[in-house]
Amino acid sequence: MDIPSKELKNGFKLPLYGIGTWYVGGDAGKINHAYDKADINALKTAIDMGVTHIDTAELYARGHAEELIGESIKGYDREKLFITSKVKPENFSYNNIIKSARESIKRLNSKYLDLYLLHSYNPLISIKETMRGMDKLKSDGLIKNIGVSNFSIEKLEKAQNETKNKIVVNQVLYNLTSRFPEDSGLLQYCQKNDIMIIAYTPVHRGIYNKNQIIILDKIAKKYDKAYSQIAINWLISQNNVVTISKTRNIEHLKENLGSLKFRMSNDDIEKLRNDFPHKKTSRFYYSNLYYVLMTGGMYIINKI
Ligand SMILES: NC(=O)c1ccc[n+]([C@@H]2O[C@H](COP(=O)([O-])OP(=O)(O)OC[C@H]3O[C@@H](n4cnc5c(N)ncnc54)[C@H](OP(=O)(O)O)[C@@H]3O)[C@@H](O)[C@H]2O)c1
Repeated sequence: MDIPSKELKNGFKLPLYGIGTWYVGGDAGKINHAYDKADINALKTAIDMGVTHIDTAELYARGHAEELIGESIKGYDREKLFITSKVKPENFSYNNIIKSARESIKRLNSKYLDLYLLHSYNPLISIKETMRGMDKLKSDGLIKNIGVSNFSIEKLEKAQNETKNKIVVNQVLYNLTSRFPEDSGLLQYCQKNDIMIIAYTPVHRGIYNKNQIIILDKIAKKYDKAYSQIAINWLISQNNVVTISKTRNIEHLKENLGSLKFRMSNDDIEKLRNDFPHKKTSRFYYSNLYYVLMTGGMYIINKI
């Protein structure tokens, strides 16, 4: 299947749907080999079915998620794939960011990353120094594009002011339930400033298929689609938004891929926006205190 792409005015483009790897190979703190074969199989099947965007991070299973991707892509044309990885906030110093990128690239059996993201803001390391590292990686050809993740408008602007390269992506939590990108104006900001939003957790970890929510049920019946398919389609119906989902279940993968080639009416898109019971993602999530705690947490996890 050919997955359609969205293109920014600056020429950067991404497929509407990519595969994520959070919990592939373990979790943040621990490597777990129990699902290695199933995950490699799921990744290969995804590529065979047309998925080209693969999202990962050095944080995921301490790099083992990247290793499993590296294993999975052997024999495929690297040029046809689009691989995104992320650097942990504790590695945002100039030297560490270069080291982290090189190590990710090695684990991924690659020569470069298509997109490299700052995993979240780190108030403890100067963003000027971090962006100098990103610029160096870009000029050396180790990364093709630069982006951020979990950044508020204010932090995005700070980062953009410190780099000569265009920040093309902000990867954030965005789904029918979590609307911080809308509520904070981030979505509108990215649309205006030619930045792609990669919405993560689009099917809210499979919850939508389990719970019957009246408006979702009504619209799913109207278009003869599963709840997850409506949830994914609603996201990609927003300008400048593409999405990534994680699955090792081939039926789920097929279902998710079936979300991409239909169009809901504007009326239904707005009904979902207004009537789907949603919550504001806490501003705390995007705050400095959160990242101090998270960065400290990651530091401790990696010392255990
Ligand atoms: N930048 C960040 O801070 C950040 C944070 C979180 C995630 N991410 C990235 O975004 C990716 C996607 O986020 P996520 O993994 O939280 O999203 P998600 O796809 O909403 O959740 C994944 C879970 O949903 C299940 N699932 C997937 N498709 C399904 C379907 N059609 N029906 C029922 N269950 C389904 C999967 O189980 P099965 O395997 O059984 O299908 C898995 O347990 C991550 O993997 C990661 O790469 C980034």
